[in-house]
Amino acid sequence: MSIAELKSWLREPDLTTFPYEAVITEYHCVGKHFVSPRLLDLLAEVRAELPSMRGPWPRLRTLMSFLDTLLDKPDERYDYSSYTALPLLQLPGADDPVEQAPFARARCDRLTTQIVSDALAFELDTHAGRTVMLPRMCPPEELIRKRYKHGMRVLRPRLARMSLDGDLTASDPADLAQQACTAVREDMSVAERRALELSMLPVYTAHDEYLFLRVLQAFETTFSLLAVSLRGVIAALPRGDVDQAERFLNSGQTALRESAPLFSMLATMQVEAFQTFRQYTEGASAIQSRNYKLVESLCRRPDRERVDSAAYYSTPDVRLRILLGQATLEEAYGHACETGCVDERGQRRLNTAMRGFARALMRWRQTHYRLAVRMLGEKTGTGYTEGTPYLKAVRDIPVFRTVRVNNQTARTR
Ligand code: HEM
Repeated sequence: MSIAELKSWLREPDLTTFPYEAVITEYHCVGKHFVSPRLLDLLAEVRAELPSMRGPWPRLRTLMSFLDTLLDKPDERYDYSSYTALPLLQLPGADDPVEQAPFARARCDRLTTQIVSDALAFELDTHAGRTVMLPRMCPPEELIRKRYKHGMRVLRPRLARMSLDGDLTASDPADLAQQACTAVREDMSVAERRALELSMLPVYTAHDEYLFLRVLQAFETTFSLLAVSLRGVIAALPRGDVDQAERFLNSGQTALRESAPLFSMLATMQVEAFQTFRQYTEGASAIQSRNYKLVESLCRRPDRERVDSAAYYSTPDVRLRILLGQATLEEAYGHACETGCVDERGQRRLNTAMRGFARALMRWRQTHYRLAVRMLGEKTGTGYTEGTPYLKAVRDIPVFRTVRVNNQTARTR
């Protein structure tokens, strides 16, 4: 079907009539890993047409990003960023002007609610028979109900900040999830709906991959917020602006805490389903997460052996930033203390905020490690590490050297 539509589009290429739905439907029917060579060739033909096309830049950019995401496997560019379709989501970035940092939280609230409510909407649609997408290995109802519950824990505080929680009156978890999905959907712009629709390209047809992808995207949104916030702290310290620095650190800590139920949601993924679709995700691992490595390296300069390990070889541009002397919070803090730009009371406040942030990040690592053990067992990672032994070793790396957190405390809380 999509082949006929693409052929007809190629006869009269026009940005406003590209058959997005037909292409997505085809990808969903078979999974990205199994798309036919004929369709891939046609999509490559479309991409070759783009430089000669006229029309508004946002439309062209969307189609370009979409095609790059669709063609990552045949291009041999397939990786974590293309698997999770991150370029289509347009997250805030650590290179955005630092003046935009105070807006990042509202932007990330919107994105996270859209991503998570879409994951819940997929469960509701499957249950009601409104979609036949990803039909393999559908989970039993009790697992789906847990997803609604944990998903709502992620959504609640964000919906409250967005003033979208007014109609959440239902007591049944499925009805409540439906109310949240409706509220979020009605609040979305056309461009936001499109971005969400285009950013779901599972490699296989197992039901649970939908949840896996959306949870990865939601965590990426959190990491991007943390990276922007850390840059905000680094900019505030030389001005002696303790209030601002403390606000950014605390909001980073809150973002991590409020994202924790995403792990509970993901823990409902069926191990067999995960083990099945991950056969086709080889080469795409969150060890390539730029935002995560930016967060780590903006806190303090990583030790030399970590910089020269798979951790940073997997994110070469972040590694380069480090080698070029990227500013870090730890240095900015040390400098502000030494020069007297922050007084003793301010230092104590910052110290407390940094410790809280570090503890939240250590807790994230511990929960991630536990989930990986449960889902992966002894198997190696898709990022070519030995798997969970790698995660066990890196979970205790200090977030800051000057502000220590008792690792045991972070683990057991
Ligand atoms: C089924 C669930 C998961 C499993 C089994 C898992 C497994 C792993 C493994 C084995 C690694 C080591 C690198 C590799 O060889 O792939 C890793 C790294 C990583 N994972 Fe996960 N993961 C899971 C979920 C997540 C989620 C939801 C996120 C959120 C974005 C995430 C973020 C990361 C990050 C940031 C790293 C790099 C850590 C570092 O280099 O210090 N993972 N994961």
